[in-house]
Amino acid sequence: MTASDKRDILVTSALPYANGSIHIGHMVEYIQTDIWTRFQRLRGHKVTWVWADDAHGTPIMMSAKNNNTTPETLIAEMKQEHEKDFVDFQLSFDNFHTTHSDENKQCVETIYNRLYKGGHIAVRTIEQLFDPEASMFLPDRFVTGTCPKCKTEDQYGDACESCGTTYDATELLNPKSVVSGAIPVTKNSEQYFFKIENFDAMLRDWTSGEHIQPEMRNKIQEWFEGGLKDWDISRNEPYWGFEIPNAPGKYFYVWMDAPIGYMASHLNLLNGDTDALEKYWGKDSTAELVHFIGIDIARFHTLCWPAMLEGAGFRKPTAVHCHGFLMVDGAKMSKSRGTFIKARTYLDHLQPDYLRYYYAAKLNHKVENLDLNLEDFVARVNSDLVGKIVNIASRCAGFIYKNFDATLAEKLPDNTLFQESKDAAPSIANAFEGREYSRAIREIIEQADKANQFIADKEPWALIKKQDQQQEVQEICTLGINLFKNLVIYLKPVVPDIAKQTEAFLNHNEFKWSDLETPLLNHKINKFKPMITRLESKSIDAIVEASKEDLKASNVAAGPVASQVAGQAAGQATGPLADDPISDEITFDDFAKVDLRVATIIAADHVDGADKLLQLTLDLGGEQRNVFAGIKSAYDPAKLIGRQTVMVANLAPRKMRFGMSEGMVLAAGPGGSDLFVLTPDDGAQAGMRVK
Ligand code: MSP
Ligand code: ZN
Repeated sequence: MTASDKRDILVTSALPYANGSIHIGHMVEYIQTDIWTRFQRLRGHKVTWVWADDAHGTPIMMSAKNNNTTPETLIAEMKQEHEKDFVDFQLSFDNFHTTHSDENKQCVETIYNRLYKGGHIAVRTIEQLFDPEASMFLPDRFVTGTCPKCKTEDQYGDACESCGTTYDATELLNPKSVVSGAIPVTKNSEQYFFKIENFDAMLRDWTSGEHIQPEMRNKIQEWFEGGLKDWDISRNEPYWGFEIPNAPGKYFYVWMDAPIGYMASHLNLLNGDTDALEKYWGKDSTAELVHFIGIDIARFHTLCWPAMLEGAGFRKPTAVHCHGFLMVDGAKMSKSRGTFIKARTYLDHLQPDYLRYYYAAKLNHKVENLDLNLEDFVARVNSDLVGKIVNIASRCAGFIYKNFDATLAEKLPDNTLFQESKDAAPSIANAFEGREYSRAIREIIEQADKANQFIADKEPWALIKKQDQQQEVQEICTLGINLFKNLVIYLKPVVPDIAKQTEAFLNHNEFKWSDLETPLLNHKINKFKPMITRLESKSIDAIVEASKEDLKASNVAAGPVASQVAGQAAGQATGPLADDPISDEITFDDFAKVDLRVATIIAADHVDGADKLLQLTLDLGGEQRNVFAGIKSAYDPAKLIGRQTVMVANLAPRKMRFGMSEGMVLAAGPGGSDLFVLTPDDGAQAGMRVK
């Protein structure tokens, strides 16, 4: 490659939210990015991969509050966890930063100030939903109600999951605050808007070019037809993010500072050198800027982000590569089925190359969902990686090692097969370049089939017994090993661990694409050790089992509850609290039937006409329950919101005068104001212990 052929590419993946663990759905994107990045490097190009945690926004603020911690602590812990997952999955990124950083503040302010000066920011007073009980403006996702278009209930304030319509939260019918359960009121508030319609012509032109997948263009066309409305980039306090310059109490909306996080991570990698940054992000940059994202965030990346860059005088992306969503066994990942698999749970049981290979074998350049079929996963990696790829080395290496002093022959028995293996390169490269990984894998496996056929036909294990055929065996096995070498070079972006072991086995420097050209001849190799072994279905069962337990981890393990905890039938309680600590004895088996879970109280209200009861909405991690609890004498409902408590989750629902009670909250104490709801963190303080 000449210096002028060498591409300089800045790559990004979408920034994971800092309030949850990485799962194998995220890994589709991150493995897709990594394969592309490694492929470009293997070809000799310069690639810098920068990304970060997406650390701002209301959900992170609420999540910190619910966990009795600060957002700073929460995002610092998450960043560590995420980065470790990524390193262990062998992702070859150059920098993983955070959007809650000085660099990001600097970049966000630069971009905002330039947009402001350019006349692209409007300040307007609008009506917004306000929660009168929690005293806060409600972000879209913190309001639910009925879709104004198709009338489906329980939809969020930004879009309907049933009919796909997007609307303003104020348009929801029967709105309800997720924070307190209160009915929100509308209140006026001054907001800052990015006038994205100023970029209408530029965006129409830009999105019709090569930067975007053809199939995305129809979708984008629909967005244009719907009109590019001013985009509200501000949020009122309390908000976890960066304050807008000269706008006290107003914060940048998380989606404003998130994509800028790409630039900020790069600036961090460059140690704050803005001149070096300009070389990539400046209008005249000759470097490529390539984003990998999922379809759910395409609008931000194909409209908002290029417009922001343009308005602030920066270059626009070279490409926005969009992928679909992960399915497991044909369905959305599910916690109860154990298919909502965290990256860490996978890594606890299996090495990354299996999943990396499977995803590659299924990924293409289209915006399609990808199905991880667990049975097929096992069959596919065993048949391809173990049965076809590694098998070639395992059939040839022993003879070379034992019979020929670990040295490859001086020539190949015939050049045709090796030539064919080299000739496959342009097409395979083209497939990787165009993110058609499934085609790349298919063509690589075709080459592997030919190599296996050759060895099967030649039967070196039979020839070795014949005295006059020794040289032939050495040459056959030398060709086999060289075909194996080329297969592993092709696969190196996909299975870096197998590639690394192969380099060691063959006494070879780090493979480069150009190493496909020349066979290793008269060259010492090392003793063969299989680079990967058969994937056992029991490992998959264990992952699924452990993923089911991930959900149960928030349960309280059944165990003796201190005698002070009399079964306060909070939901059912009509009578007084049991002052008598020991009621009739029950057996351990009776007790073990009780499914105790930690739940978050997401709403608490007085109940009209009931003097002891509060109505609670409990969140069990995805599932919500309505419970009536006799704790009114001790708790102000507003103070319960956001706290965690222990509930009996498998109590048969009971119809009460005020509605259905679906479970029971555990509480104990002498009664009156001395009544304590059992919570996971301060139970001990209230004289109770749950083991
Ligand atoms: N924080 C935003 C992105 C900001 S980028 C400036 C976000 N975070 S996310 O954690 O929800 O998702 C990160 C990426 O992972 C997105 O591109 C998303 O599409 C992708 N995926 C998340 N779940 C996924 C699947 N189940 N399947 C495939 N990709 C998935 O969005
Ligand atoms: Zn709808």
